[in-house]
Amino acid sequence: MWPDGRLTERLGLRHPIVQAPMAGASSPAMAAAAANAGAIGSVAAPLLTLPEMRAEWAEARAATNGALALNFFCHRPPGRDAAREAAARERLRPFYDELALGPVPEPTETPPFDAERLAFVLEARPAAVSFHFGLPAPDLLAPLKAAGIFILSSATSPAEAVALEAAGADAVIAQGWEAGGHRGVHDEREGWGEMGAIALVPAIVDRVKVPVIAAGGIGDGRGIAAAMMLGAAGAQLGTAFLLSPESRIAEPHRAALRASDGADTAVTAAFSGRPARGVRNRYMAEMGPEAQADFPLMNPLTAPLRAASAKAGSPDFMSLWSGQAPFLAREEGTGEIVERLAREALGLLGRG
Ligand SMILES: Cc1cc2nc3c(=O)[nH]c(=O)nc-3n(C[C@H](O)[C@H](O)[C@H](O)COP(=O)(O)O)c2cc1C
Repeated sequence: MWPDGRLTERLGLRHPIVQAPMAGASSPAMAAAAANAGAIGSVAAPLLTLPEMRAEWAEARAATNGALALNFFCHRPPGRDAAREAAARERLRPFYDELALGPVPEPTETPPFDAERLAFVLEARPAAVSFHFGLPAPDLLAPLKAAGIFILSSATSPAEAVALEAAGADAVIAQGWEAGGHRGVHDEREGWGEMGAIALVPAIVDRVKVPVIAAGGIGDGRGIAAAMMLGAAGAQLGTAFLLSPESRIAEPHRAALRASDGADTAVTAAFSGRPARGVRNRYMAEMGPEAQADFPLMNPLTAPLRAASAKAGSPDFMSLWSGQAPFLAREEGTGEIVERLAREALGLLGRG
């Protein structure tokens, strides 16, 4: 049915569509609904503790027999710099004072994919594992490959895609500059990875043999069909699902997406220490785009601000992650969204 059957055949999908893992925004219900509609659903585990990821995985698995992926970060541990961290905390202090949050906490580290997470994946046996910020070391990757688990990771440049394929990725996600959330950059020479998807997708397709999954700013069947005309075998969409009932984002985030025409998003490293795209707000304006401390140390420093802002119904200090096409997101169920995307794309590709 689809022009390139590699992903559908290998993963047992009806549609070569990936519901993007979105830490803090996607949910087990979203993953299960996407899988039940014939796409691959993703359980975002990057920010979860082991007990939390076990619970989320069990919830998604119980609700579908379809294809599910588990998603992890594999960032390098942060460089610790006491003076820089103290300066970052000082910089945030006026915001903490304004929201009466007490002292700014000490930064803590979120672990990347490690031996404990590997053991969990080997027990859970997802159809696929997707990584953000590169791939784990060979000793952590080899057992996944040996277990027949399909390996995905994002590339923001042709060179990153070639490196991922050489390291064992079974498919490469071409993450264009339009994409919402964190840039998957893993080669520091790439800066923030600023190639747009319309150039990035064919550049990667021409350089790797594995299937390429286009991501970034795709919000309806037009984007999926266009990506396929550029040679992509599939598409990964995140923002398109953020207004669904299965999305966990808070009301001010939903309101910001509904109001956006796409021109008001920007990339900033000020929330987490790594570049990520979201709707502009007061925090982004006042902090500027730079990281004040390495990823992921900024995350726990900004978490109380983000939570208090959401609780107060204000977008001011929230990370309003969004790609450049929030205006294409619809208030529909995740399953309906997948079915509509597939119908629209197949119609445009002359295969409906
Ligand atoms: C709210 C949000 C959170 C995200 N969190 C993750 C994540 O935890 N892991 C990951 O691999 N990608 C994450 N991403 C990036 C997506 O995988 C994907 O690249 C992006 O959503 C594609 O662009 P689009 O949002 O325009 O569809 C996130 C994206 C958004 C919008």
